[in-house]
Amino acid sequence: MKIKTKHILTLSELTSKEFLGLIDYSIKLKKQSKMGSNKPLLKNKTLTMIFEKPSTRTRVSFETAMYQLGGHAINLSSNNTQLSRGESIEDTAKTLSQYTDCIMARVYDHSILDKLSKHASVPVINGLSDSFHPCQILADFMTIKEKKKTLKGLKIAWIGDGNNVCNSMIFGAALSGVTMTIATPKGFEPDKSTVKISQNVTDIELTTDPLKAAKNADVVVTDTYTSIHNKDSNKIKNFLPKYQVNDKIMSLAKKNAIFLHCLPAKREQEVTSSVIDGPQSVVWDEAENRLHSQKALLLALLHA
Ligand code: CP
Ligand code: NVA
Repeated sequence: MKIKTKHILTLSELTSKEFLGLIDYSIKLKKQSKMGSNKPLLKNKTLTMIFEKPSTRTRVSFETAMYQLGGHAINLSSNNTQLSRGESIEDTAKTLSQYTDCIMARVYDHSILDKLSKHASVPVINGLSDSFHPCQILADFMTIKEKKKTLKGLKIAWIGDGNNVCNSMIFGAALSGVTMTIATPKGFEPDKSTVKISQNVTDIELTTDPLKAAKNADVVVTDTYTSIHNKDSNKIKNFLPKYQVNDKIMSLAKKNAIFLHCLPAKREQEVTSSVIDGPQSVVWDEAENRLHSQKALLLALLHA
């Protein structure tokens, strides 16, 4: 499948058709993989992964995706590169482009990705920045499509912190026409310009009332209150107990609503064990789908 953009930094680089196409392609690749027919479409291709922050899912799913497609991934902690000794992003981007076919980076400041993509001659993928997590949202919408069969007419309730994952989910909603109600405490709303752009194409409602958000939702989503880049350990006081996804919240959503969480989760903070381990939770499919959706993304970006 073809996409026009060279890089994926926020998701907003995609057209609606491309986004929906990537989701269907991910589902197709998953089926092929389950039948044992992974084609070596990335033979001799190398992905370099730069991590400024820790990761379990992103690292392992990208590395496994490259391996299963016949390619190779190199994992770099930014502490172990010359970046840690002051080599510029520009020079790093140009150097890595000489060896590797694609760069995936997990960074603090999103502007590092802008610089990387400006100076790399190969595609750059955002593997999480303080502002966005596009790869997570590809997997999330793939999971929603698998479970609900269609994205048409769905309502997502986001409850908790209006963080990087929430920002990308807003773009996902805009690209798919899904509506979103986002319940956060005052001061923890998602990125204003992301909301504004997306409100031009779909219904994105902000509220401080989690019960209102949950009402009649098809999908209930939350994430940790304390993202990797959050320094203030008192932050959680703003959220508890009101913004916890628990049985009461789930009972307000539709009977067949599903629960998503990008993981890692802090049980009994943003979500109770009864919900994340309960029958409506699809978090393990969601985690698995990182593998399949990133295969689709890599194949599309590398025109393979
Ligand atoms: N969801 C996610 O990106 O997980 P990791 O931080 O483990 O990569
Ligand atoms: N919001 C979380 C997501 C981790 C995958 C963070 O940035 O730490």
